[in-house]
Amino acid sequence: MPEGDKDILLASTPDAWVQAAAARWRELLNDHAQCEKKAASTALALMFTYPEDRRLAAALSRLAREELRHFEQVQKLMAALEVPFERQRPGRYASGLRAPLRTADPGRKLDLLLTGALIEARSCERFRLLAPRLPPQVGGFYAQLAHSEARHFEQYLDLAQEAAALEWRQRLQELAEHEARLATAPDAQLRFHSGPPAHVPRPVE
Ligand SMILES: [Fe+2]
Ligand SMILES: [Fe+2]
Repeated sequence: MPEGDKDILLASTPDAWVQAAAARWRELLNDHAQCEKKAASTALALMFTYPEDRRLAAALSRLAREELRHFEQVQKLMAALEVPFERQRPGRYASGLRAPLRTADPGRKLDLLLTGALIEARSCERFRLLAPRLPPQVGGFYAQLAHSEARHFEQYLDLAQEAAALEWRQRLQELAEHEARLATAPDAQLRFHSGPPAHVPRPVE
């Protein structure tokens, strides 16, 4: 089983959460269905925000379809187990995670992708923790989902690494153009890093 989530999560889920979630799994199934739907819509939103990024579109289109399939599977399970649908107020996690993100590019894309990786990593960790503690029908499903979320976590992290590399190249290009102008434009002073002298003194006759 992939252990990748351990690489980026700085804290393990508290045992008190695991105990409570295992006891109240029916209630959480409701929230879980919303999470799968939200995971699909987050992936789609990224595709709309960065339409020129074909690799991102291809990866996230597949991911969104998979999340919607998870949503359908949770709904089916809820119906089979007679867990009623209930409207719930969203928890603090998603909005809290977004709070420190940069609001414009460059930077926004990297932050969104890194946040995606963190959410998937946390989901993966929690499915793995809950799987052995739940009734087999739900536990088996959660064990499968842990694998999918581990893959999603790695996809988001790969995309984030690409975005970071692109941001690095674009910034280097901007700063290098600036440096090139300073080193080549006529300069009032002759210095080691100056441009050529603006006024060439006439040779003394
Ligand atoms: Fe999912
Ligand atoms: Fe996922």
